[in-house]
Order: sequence, then C-alpha cells, then structure tokens
Amino acid sequence: MKIKDNIADEFSEFSKNYTHDMIGCVPHYLKLMSCFTEALPKGFRPESILDLGCGNGNATSKLLEVFPDAKYTLLDASQEMLNLCQQQFKGSKVEYVTSYFQDYDFKADDYDLIVAGFSLHHCDSEEKKSLFKKINRSLKKGGVFSCADLMISKNSPEHPKLLENWKTFVNSNFPNGEKWKWLLEHYNEFDKPDNFKDQIEWLKESGFIAIEITTRKDYWMHLQAVKD
Ligand SMILES: C[S@@+](CC[C@H](N)C(=O)[O-])C[C@H]1O[C@@H](n2cnc3c(N)ncnc32)[C@H](O)[C@@H]1O
Repeated sequence: MKIKDNIADEFSEFSKNYTHDMIGCVPHYLKLMSCFTEALPKGFRPESILDLGCGNGNATSKLLEVFPDAKYTLLDASQEMLNLCQQQFKGSKVEYVTSYFQDYDFKADDYDLIVAGFSLHHCDSEEKKSLFKKINRSLKKGGVFSCADLMISKNSPEHPKLLENWKTFVNSNFPNGEKWKWLLEHYNEFDKPDNFKDQIEWLKESGFIAIEITTRKDYWMHLQAVKD
C-alpha cells in the first residue's frame, strides 16, 4: 500500500478495511473508543453532537446507542469515509459535512458535545491551538470536548520507545511487515502528535475547565474537558 498525496485521499483509500485495520494498527483502539460514552460526566445528556474526523463513524455509532435522539454532525475531509457513515446511519438525525477542520465554519454555542477520535494528531501544534479555541466557542456552556488520540510529540525523549512498542504491536497483528512499513510512511508524512501536557495547557488557554486524562495506556489517551 502506498501513501497518497493528501489526507482526504489517504483516508478514502484507508476506508476499505478501516475498523479491522484500526484495531490492528492502533494499540487500545477499542478501549479508547469506549471512553466516548463511558467517560462522560454523570447525567450528561447531549442533544447536539459534532464528530470531528468521524472516519467510518465508530465514535458516533457508540454515541447513538446511548443518545439515539441527539442531532449529529459528522465532519471529515474524506468523502469515502462519509459515504460509509451515510450507509450506516440511515434514519438517524445526522448531517454530513465534507470539510477540513480548518475550513469549517464553527458556529458559537452550537454543540453540547464535540468528539474527536484519532483525528487531531493530523493537525500541527498551531492548528490544534486554533482548533481548541474554535471548539470552545462552538460548545454551549457546560458542553464537553472529548478526544482520544496518540499524545506524545515526535521530539519527546520517550518517542523512540513508543515507536518500538508500536512496531511490535502492529507486526504481531500483520506479521509480513508490510502494514508497519505503510503505517510508518503514513506517520512520517501525515501525523503530528503533541504531548498531552501541552494540549492540556492549550485547552486551559482556550477556556476549558475540568480537563482530565480519563484513560491512559502508554501515550494512547482519552482526554476530556468542559466549557466554563
Ligand atoms: C484515523 S481516522 C479516525 C476516524 C474515527 N474518528 C475513528 O476514531 O475511528 C482520522 C480521520 O480524520 C480525518 N481527518 C484527518 N485530518 C483532517 C482534517 N484536517 N480535516 C478533516 N478531517 C480530517 C481523516 O479523513 C480520517 O477519516
């Protein structure tokens, strides 16, 4: 498998065996996805939800089980990913937006819950800072931002060890080594993870409170924050 020229084409290609590949390529993927429903504050019942970088809809499908009557907005740069969501979520209140995060017109006080599953690591540090401000503005008061991702910078001293462990994990699931070869090329080209401590600071600067890492497995984490 060869990487593509841009993130939208890359994920349109990746969409073919998406969930199977994510489980085999991302350590703790299913555990971290379960946080989107299990880590929410007690009694929190969102009526409007934005899924940023929805992919084939794995976060939304968990949320729909618990909040079937909520109104969902699914955003992704990849049309193929959104097509998969459209097939899956027929009959639910779902709006689909084909857009890069950077181009989306975030309206003020629009959502109760904004989720991002393994999507924000495609943004560099400046893009994340800008996005956190837009996410904060777009949440209603008391609204929740919920994010699962790899949260370690490529400059971190622990990063080489992370890569070593990650390679072992992927090769145990795809023993011919081809998947890791592709993944590393994808990672070098498209992925810009940041340290969780930096992201917590940027969330504070953006006006979030009650910021917590609810689940941490090595540097694979779920982080949640509330709009003040
Ligand atoms: C690794 S997948 C995660 C999908 C899904 N959220 C999940 O947890 O399984 C990342 C998704 O984010 C989308 N994406 C990445 N960068 C993006 C950007 N800047 N704007 C919009 N979508 C983006 C990709 O097209 C892809 O579908």
